[in-house]
Amino acid sequence: MPIQEKCRILEHQKVGPHHYKLTLVSQYISSHAQPGQFVNVKCSESFDPLLRRPISFHRINTQHRTFELLYEVVGRGSELLTKYFVGEELDILGPLGTGFNIDPEKRIHILVGGGMGIAPLLALGEQIQNSKVKSQNALYVLIGANNKEHIFGEEEFRKVTDQVQVATDDGSYGKKGFVSDLLLNFIETELRTHNSELATIYACGPRPMLKAVAEIAQQKKIDCQISMEERMACGIGACKGCATKTAGGYRTVCKHGPVLDAKEIIWN
Ligand SMILES: Cc1cc2nc3c(=O)[nH]c(=O)nc-3n(C[C@H](O)[C@H](O)[C@H](O)COP(=O)(O)OP(=O)(O)OC[C@H]3O[C@@H](n4cnc5c(N)ncnc54)[C@H](O)[C@@H]3O)c2cc1C
Ligand code: FES
Repeated sequence: MPIQEKCRILEHQKVGPHHYKLTLVSQYISSHAQPGQFVNVKCSESFDPLLRRPISFHRINTQHRTFELLYEVVGRGSELLTKYFVGEELDILGPLGTGFNIDPEKRIHILVGGGMGIAPLLALGEQIQNSKVKSQNALYVLIGANNKEHIFGEEEFRKVTDQVQVATDDGSYGKKGFVSDLLLNFIETELRTHNSELATIYACGPRPMLKAVAEIAQQKKIDCQISMEERMACGIGACKGCATKTAGGYRTVCKHGPVLDAKEIIWN
């Protein structure tokens, strides 16, 4: 059940050219949030901009009653967010949406993030590694971005697994190419000797990347969960502004998603 709460800012750091990390305090939200869910943030004290902006949980720390958001400045809302200081409060609605489903039968977890798509995957990786069956799980993280400057979270992911691979479109860091190329290569080499029925791919990133990942998953018969990004208004399933076509009809990305089964998504 989401709540609206004024959450105190514990930390607010610039972590990239246009990228910031926010740590917020909330006992309720941190203890109810699931990886893949998001909060809807009011980016100013006034009604301009009118709509809240959706941002995923990057990290959830129940013990410290905090959660982290990693965001990129792309327009007015995210620009206004950068003006908030430590100690001030942000009006937050959450946790919202349906997050990733960690099937206890699965043993191989492959996280695939493109650009800012890595944001919700760190919380997921940490939850997989904190699970009771940790020792039976294999966690692989594949990260991609346009260039080295836009690779985020590598250090944090390396704290949860030593199986991290990186690709950049321009080859300035890691392998040259798309993260979907990394995934295909990974499946055809390292996963070749494993039972693919025990694997799940979890992906988040730009739409063309997600489509490529979903196609690979279908071709290789691997379960795949996709975190979709649509422009949102209410964030609670009321306005239908974020509806997307699925095999089961139109579904709201904010409520049925943002994480959807790749087999359900109609890409055209
Ligand atoms: C479920 C969900 C989770 C998200 N999680 C994160 C996150 O963890 N970190 C992060 O940086 N961003 C995340 N986003 C995207 C973020 O919500 C948008 O970047 C933000 O709303 C832009 O607001 P703005 O006012 O700064 O830009 P605007 O002025 O509103 O838009 C600037 C540009 O961004 C594009 N844009 C705006 N919203 C979206 C969107 N939802 N999807 C795709 N393009 C968009 C616009 O088309 C425009 O080109 C998420 C979006 C969704 C739907
Ligand atoms: S944003 Fe209103 S229904 Fe999804």
